[in-house]
Amino acid sequence: MTETRPNIDPHPLSLYVAWAGNRNKDPILAAFKTLFPASGDVLELATGAGLHINYFAPNFPNIKFQPSDYDVTVFDSIKAKRDAVGNKNIADPIRIDLTDPTTFPDPATHRYDAIFVINIFQVAPVAIAAGIAQLGASVLKDGGFIAIYGPFKVDGSYTTPSNEAFDKEILAAGVTEWGLKDVRDLEAAAAPFGLKFARKLDLPANNFILIFEKA
Ligand SMILES: C[S@@+](CC[C@H](N)C(=O)[O-])C[C@H]1O[C@@H](n2cnc3c(N)ncnc32)[C@H](O)[C@@H]1O
Repeated sequence: MTETRPNIDPHPLSLYVAWAGNRNKDPILAAFKTLFPASGDVLELATGAGLHINYFAPNFPNIKFQPSDYDVTVFDSIKAKRDAVGNKNIADPIRIDLTDPTTFPDPATHRYDAIFVINIFQVAPVAIAAGIAQLGASVLKDGGFIAIYGPFKVDGSYTTPSNEAFDKEILAAGVTEWGLKDVRDLEAAAAPFGLKFARKLDLPANNFILIFEKA
């Protein structure tokens, strides 16, 4: 894997997304080791190529992982990685479109202790937070939580010059819904669904894990 950052390209199978995943997978894993239960069910949203879920799963042998994405063309990549590593605790991916509640799993058959999502908000509208919260309200078990990883603004401000530079680079693409989102806007979007912003963990490269809990 190249150390030089490829040009920004949000396509889940791009070199850029693979580069970012390789850079952030160990810090995220370290955080999840402190957050996930010893056993249970964990859902990943916007799984993309499947790099993270396949890297994390062997560290949690008693957790069953469920990958998902709205783009079914990534499913072969998720399954190929799973089969290459021999991960037995990863289910086949399911299609979840965070803008379309009719695609959300049925809580009668799907319940999760934790839901996580990595690097979606830079390239998706803040309204996605409402979808994530609605989904969480429906399928999280009591005491469950949502962990959202990425770079964010806080109270309308950039937390570092590097995040400001990154945002300007994304915004230069001219796509309306791209750009760093504000933690407060995610909080406001999640609140009507009973999902409460609990805390943020600081991760390297000026990224956060935002924890939302079922009230
Ligand atoms: C930048 S990629 C990140 C992929 C992966 N989480 C990672 O960190 O390598 C963004 C992902 O969000 C997914 N995505 C975008 N909009 C979505 C939506 N409305 N519902 C579900 N997934 C979505 C894309 O298909 C893509 O896999």
